Amino acid sequence: MLISRRNFLRTISTGAAAGAAMPVTRIWPAHVLEPTGPIVPRGPVRLNENENVYGPCKKALAAMHSAVSTANRYPNADYAELTGSIASFHGVKPEQVLLGCGSTEILRVAAVAFLRRGKQLVQASPTFEAIGRYAKAAGAEVVSVPLDRSFAHDLNEMLARVDATTSLVYICNPNNPTASLTPRKDLESFIANLHPSCYVLIDEAYHHYAGQSSMYASFVDRPTNAEKVIVCRTFSEIYALAGLRLGYCIAAPAVIEQMRPHITLNSVNGVVVRAATAALEDTESVRNFVKQNTDARQEFLNQAQARMLRFIDSHANFVMLNTQHRAGEVIEYFRKENILLGSPVPAIDTYIRVSLGAANEMRAFWRTWDRSPFARAPMHH
Ligand SMILES: Cc1ncc(COP(=O)(O)O)c(C=O)c1O
Repeated sequence: MLISRRNFLRTISTGAAAGAAMPVTRIWPAHVLEPTGPIVPRGPVRLNENENVYGPCKKALAAMHSAVSTANRYPNADYAELTGSIASFHGVKPEQVLLGCGSTEILRVAAVAFLRRGKQLVQASPTFEAIGRYAKAAGAEVVSVPLDRSFAHDLNEMLARVDATTSLVYICNPNNPTASLTPRKDLESFIANLHPSCYVLIDEAYHHYAGQSSMYASFVDRPTNAEKVIVCRTFSEIYALAGLRLGYCIAAPAVIEQMRPHITLNSVNGVVVRAATAALEDTESVRNFVKQNTDARQEFLNQAQARMLRFIDSHANFVMLNTQHRAGEVIEYFRKENILLGSPVPAIDTYIRVSLGAANEMRAFWRTWDRSPFARAPMHH
């Protein structure tokens, strides 16, 4: 006899009441055990990792659900399909696309492929730290050039630091942790002035949030003819698949072939491959996510301004807010109040990085701020 979960629960609860020797166990009513919709994570308010709180989109969720039942299979055929979809989405050849377990894997592979002892990585400071770590692990020297006063990459200074040993330059645009932009035209002349043997990795993890600015254009959407430019994208931000780990890069086929041997074989799982194909096609959800982020960012900036707080102009899904206090202390205060913020950035040590969360999470952020000692007592210099 087939027995539904509800009937099964009824059966065991009657059994438990009848059996005198059985320990008394709490029987949950059936509706408690049945799925009721999206699972809302418990625990602290997470404004620390620049996640997309509005997704994943419904089509990606449906694709994930149907993909789990094929978890016993290697997803080899699906890789080729996703690679093809990404290639046609960007109008490039499949040989120009390399998938990785998060764009973090692409960053690691670029470091391993192009750096070694005696070679040098040039990057900004502060910037996203992963590639610097991998460069050091590969034995290379890391040259970090402070951002300029507008928090753009100081490209003149970076060019001055490039020498014959520089085999890789990392540009994060928009930059993490500052959410600032480096103007497209400045990047173009920087790249044109680099020695042709030097690779440039442009990390466009926050591309979708920067689209509105006239200073910005993606190097995938508007490529230059520079042979050694690698553009890195992720499914963790606008596509809201951070937990499933998928990123990719686009470059000339010869560059991809230099990177490919270093990628972990089968590091991309079968669930994310299907989810990503669905997410990529769902341009309407992408538009909605961008709009929701734009509104949340504007609301955050309004709230900051109402409190006379300064911030760095944001082109991403997070904002660097100047608290006028030591960031470490502010972050710790919020942590005790169950709100997680980005790590402190020594170069700008009164700023906190706040990822834009859901409306109730942002209200919790401002409530906590208003109650904090930092809101009442500006730091004296
Ligand atoms: C600039 C930048 N690049 C790359 C990544 C890594 O993303 P993932 O490995 O999830 O694709 C992040 C994540 O925060 C990031 O901020």
